[in-house]
Amino acid sequence: MPKKKKKIEARLSPIHGNGVFATGLIKKGERVVRYKGKLRTHAEVDEEYGDDDEDGHTFLFTLNDDYVVDANVGGNIARWINHSCQPNCESEIEEDAKDRRHKDKVFIQALREIKPGEELTYNYGITLDEPHTARLKKLWACKCGSKKCTGTMLQPKR
Ligand SMILES: C[S@@+](CC[C@H](N)C(=O)[O-])C[C@H]1O[C@@H](n2cnc3c(N)ncnc32)[C@H](O)[C@@H]1O
Ligand SMILES: [Zn+2]
Repeated sequence: MPKKKKKIEARLSPIHGNGVFATGLIKKGERVVRYKGKLRTHAEVDEEYGDDDEDGHTFLFTLNDDYVVDANVGGNIARWINHSCQPNCESEIEEDAKDRRHKDKVFIQALREIKPGEELTYNYGITLDEPHTARLKKLWACKCGSKKCTGTMLQPKR
C-alpha cells in the first residue's frame, strides 16, 4: 500500500523556535502524526536530564506511569509541535490491548478542521511535582498568543 503523504511541515513559528504547520486540509478527528522517540523510564529520564527543565524546554512526553517518550533521541516532526492554551489538536494515548505499557503509543489528533498554513498546537498538560510558584510559571511562560492564554504552560493542579 502506498505511504500516506504527510500534510504537515516544520518551520519557524511565531510562538517559539520551530513549529509544525498544515500543508493540506486536516479533518476534525484526523490522526495527524505519532509522537516518536526513545522509550525511557521516568528514572532514566530523571537521571539523564535532571534539572534540565530549568529552562522550560523539553522534548519529553509522559506516556504513562512507567514510561516517557524521549524525542531527543529518534524523535520525528511531532517534537516540533508547540503548546497552546487554545489548541487545534490534542494528544491521544493509544493503550496496548494487552496492557503492555511499553507498547502504548501517543498520537496528535485534530480537534477541529485545520486549514493549510495554520500552526498545529496541543495543550502539553504539564504539571510539575513541586508547587507551581510564580518563578516556575514564568520559567514555563506561554507565548501561544491566543485569547485564552493563561500566560503559562503549567496547568492548574487537581
Ligand atoms: C516539544 S518542543 C516544541 C518545539 C520548539 N518550538 C523548539 O523549537 O524546540 C517544546 C518546547 O518548546 C517551547 N514552547 C512550546 N510551546 C510554547 C509556547 N506556547 N510558549 C512558549 N514556549 C513554547 C518550550 O520551550 C517547550 O518546552
Ligand atoms: Zn498560552
